[in-house]
Amino acid sequence: MSPQPQAAVGAPLSRVDGRLKVTGQAPYAAEHDVEGVVHAVIVDSGVGRGRITSIDTRDAEAQRDVLRVISHRNAPKLPYRDNPGSNNPPGRRLRVFQDDRVLFHGQPVAVVVATTLEAAQHGASLVKVAYDTERPSTDLHEAERDKPTTYARGDADAGLRSSAVRLDLTYQLARNHQNPMEPHATIARWDGDKLTVWDKTQWVVGTRDELVTVFDLPEESVRIISPFVGGAFGSGLRCWPHTVVAALAARETGRPVKLVLSRKQQYFGTGFRPSYEYRLRLGSDRRGRLTAMAHEMDAETSSYETFTETVMPAGQMLYSMPNVSQEYRTVPLDVNTPLWMRGPGFATASFVIESAMDELAHKLGIDPLELRRRNEPNEDESNGRPFSTRRLRECYTVGAREFGWHRRSSRPRSRREGDWLIGLGVAVGVYETQRNQAQARVRLDADGTALVETAASDMGPGTYTSQTQVAADALGLTMRTVTLRLGDSLYPPTPPHGGSQTMASVGSAVLDGCDKVRRQAIELAVEDRESPLYGADADDVVVRGGRLHVKGNPGRGETYRSLLTRNDRTHVEAGGSYAGASKPERHSFYAYNATFAEVAVDAKLGLVRVRRMLGVYDAGRIISPKLAESQAIGGIVGGIGTALLEHTVTDHRDGRIVNANLADYLVPVNADVPDVRAIYLDGEDRKADPLGVKGLGEVVHVGVAPAIANAVFNATGRRVRELPITAEALM
Ligand code: MOS
Repeated sequence: MSPQPQAAVGAPLSRVDGRLKVTGQAPYAAEHDVEGVVHAVIVDSGVGRGRITSIDTRDAEAQRDVLRVISHRNAPKLPYRDNPGSNNPPGRRLRVFQDDRVLFHGQPVAVVVATTLEAAQHGASLVKVAYDTERPSTDLHEAERDKPTTYARGDADAGLRSSAVRLDLTYQLARNHQNPMEPHATIARWDGDKLTVWDKTQWVVGTRDELVTVFDLPEESVRIISPFVGGAFGSGLRCWPHTVVAALAARETGRPVKLVLSRKQQYFGTGFRPSYEYRLRLGSDRRGRLTAMAHEMDAETSSYETFTETVMPAGQMLYSMPNVSQEYRTVPLDVNTPLWMRGPGFATASFVIESAMDELAHKLGIDPLELRRRNEPNEDESNGRPFSTRRLRECYTVGAREFGWHRRSSRPRSRREGDWLIGLGVAVGVYETQRNQAQARVRLDADGTALVETAASDMGPGTYTSQTQVAADALGLTMRTVTLRLGDSLYPPTPPHGGSQTMASVGSAVLDGCDKVRRQAIELAVEDRESPLYGADADDVVVRGGRLHVKGNPGRGETYRSLLTRNDRTHVEAGGSYAGASKPERHSFYAYNATFAEVAVDAKLGLVRVRRMLGVYDAGRIISPKLAESQAIGGIVGGIGTALLEHTVTDHRDGRIVNANLADYLVPVNADVPDVRAIYLDGEDRKADPLGVKGLGEVVHVGVAPAIANAVFNATGRRVRELPITAEALM
């Protein structure tokens, strides 16, 4: 078929759902209007480890409007079948109200259901729980490590011994919480043995499968609805216990139940980016050619599940070197299980590697960009595969020019404006290009409008808009005449809306479905004696603005509407699918960036102010430039948080998170966010997927924190190897 003209893809369009969102008409999980809904409030464990010895629910149950209090004493035994293929990490998932064990501070120990929210909240405050308390283990530095996952090529120890220059650096990275604006929430309703759940989730398919296995239901009996998600950053990538609690409470009371986690409950009711201790030893020759890196990574997980993330690949493929060793050890603690948070794994590794590269550059007296150029690999040295596309050199060149890198003095503490020390820093970001099986359903109606349905979520990046752009061009329709429907497990299945894989995976399925529909319409036309296109070569026909015509001869054609109406066709439809990455892969697929930061540090007070940031991205084809820019700004803002503010603090005496609120857990506000600029290199990656995209939501966050840390060093001469970088560390 003739390639379609691209009118919507690549155009800086505004969100198709923008109006709904700003007028409050895009319903989030708790906002769906479900008749007869009652309210549930979870009672959290007040100890960090132990056994429940008694639960006194009498006062709560005596309250008017309280319908039921459920705990392990009266909850039915739930099947909790295995759920292979889920995002549940290996281990034994938390089984709500199934026994008296307390595994972490804040674990759900009971739920109060009442006809009003206030009564449920008050009832929850009246439940008295007594514990046999043990001292929890929540300190990464004191607990025992699991056996490591390892990687080696060459001989890192020998390589380090023979290196002319060596660094041995240990980094501490704080635990971070995703803290989306919309709290996690669930409404559950049973109609006989059919369960409908409105949920905040990045994966309706995964939440369905979890409820199917927990309650041992047929797949057809469970439907998950999640049309809009108010941010998630990874926190919605698995089904958390509160969703099970809501479904259980609804079944036990025979009423639809709404359960909204409080802001505090987000901190132990959903996941988090685990804290790390990360030791990196690296060696190079005098000219800065890397000889070896040895990575030792310790990361927290829970006592009952082993959460791991892709923290290893960056150390294997980012730079050329003969010798690499890696040990990645999880450390089981009495905490809720961590989960992915934006740029998972790569953001952590990038902070360490890119900070260390900056130290090496300084030690050798080589410009940090030049040092990276000297270590640019020709292939992915972890597997010998060629890179599909890798344009880091261009990122360096464009970034240096646009940011004014030549103005950076290589001597730290050499630029001052009044009390403020000014510094510039750079770091590289990298994130794997994931692609997985996805499906979509496309229907073109005789009135010339189209409907596309796919189970994917839109947690905020603008999936409604970008998928509409793909569909509109493939169908030859305008944006206004295409409607996208997302976030329902009844729609064709998709992988998790995470890992920056939605455009590559779901987008390719949408493209496939739309291509099929367009082809059907074209074939109908060229075989229809009454069509002006009769007898034309189907391969020569394109569609624009809902009108089919011969390429180069716009006069010869007709609209979908006239074609379908004349042929008594109410619609044309097709299923679209995408098979995912080829296995094994023949290339190495990553998106990249060079991120630049300028900071000002108050010489006396240690305050850090980010003044300018620039990200230059090699992310393949950009479907939606305006939304891509928004993603970059969001990723950079998140990185400012990681670098300077975000830190979930646990009291190791009782395992309690002490700053489980948005007043004490600091995130960037407008005043923290400077002039931010994003440049996407023009191009595409045809080897990656039919759309040529490489994913961008994660990579824009990776490399931000080390760019800021390196700028802080350039400003002050102080090397802080701990996140977040606080004023205390700089005093
Ligand atoms: Mo992203 S951390 O996979 O939502």
